[in-house]
Amino acid sequence: MAILGKKKTYDTEGLKVPVSLGVIMDGNGRWAKKRMLPRSAGHRAGAENLKELCRNCGNYGVKYLTVYAFSTENWARPEDEVHQLMELFVEFFEKYDPELEEEGIRVRFTGDIASLPENIREVCKRGEERSLHRNKMQLIVAFNYGGRRELEYATRLIAQKVKDGEINPEDITEDMISQNMYLPDVPDPELIIRPSGEMRLSNFLLWESAYSELWVSETLWPDFGYDELTKAFSDFARRDRRFGGLSKKDAK
Ligand code: FPP
Repeated sequence: MAILGKKKTYDTEGLKVPVSLGVIMDGNGRWAKKRMLPRSAGHRAGAENLKELCRNCGNYGVKYLTVYAFSTENWARPEDEVHQLMELFVEFFEKYDPELEEEGIRVRFTGDIASLPENIREVCKRGEERSLHRNKMQLIVAFNYGGRRELEYATRLIAQKVKDGEINPEDITEDMISQNMYLPDVPDPELIIRPSGEMRLSNFLLWESAYSELWVSETLWPDFGYDELTKAFSDFARRDRRFGGLSKKDAK
């Protein structure tokens, strides 16, 4: 079925689209520098592009889109940049919520949300509550997120259960660890896209990405549009995902 929306054709039959997708939105600073603009202009352009990505992913049939918006390491940036990112975060969910509503996009947050300033926690809470009924796609915003911090969180929860005598150490399984991560109901990403040419995960979904396909492009995040998303999906559809086993053709 080809869905026509905003002059684009979403060929959902010809393309095997990931149910769960992760995107590392990298390159805002370089995008701004190339245009002799302040870094904040790059982040703003990046936020606009996130809105576009949501629309495109929703129309392609992605069900869970996790985006890396602010890492536990990003606090090391200059104070004014951190401040601008926080302000942009608040503005984004106030300004674009009607569009997210129109697109049927539920918003959730993952990360060390409890350590964020109260106004940000409030935005997260409101964003989640008012979008609970939307069911086309979930946008999961990783904010103050670190893969190692998430593992620390899960380990603490499990250690507490051992301490309380609910389980024994030998009862701990991979599945139990998954069940104690921030959002256990969100499937592991099948594909992770990283624009801007960097070949690393930067502490993004460390546990969940064990078998994710990685797709890297040189394009800076604010310029990463529909055509590249389509290219990433068609490359993904051709990947031979073996999960440590054999190719279907070799297993016969
Ligand atoms: C990395 O690019 C990007 C970030 C640290 C911030 C990502 C934020 C957004 C795309 C917009 C805000 C998101 C929301 C949810 C409102 P960089 O600054 O490291 O770029 P560089 O590597 O070129 O310097």
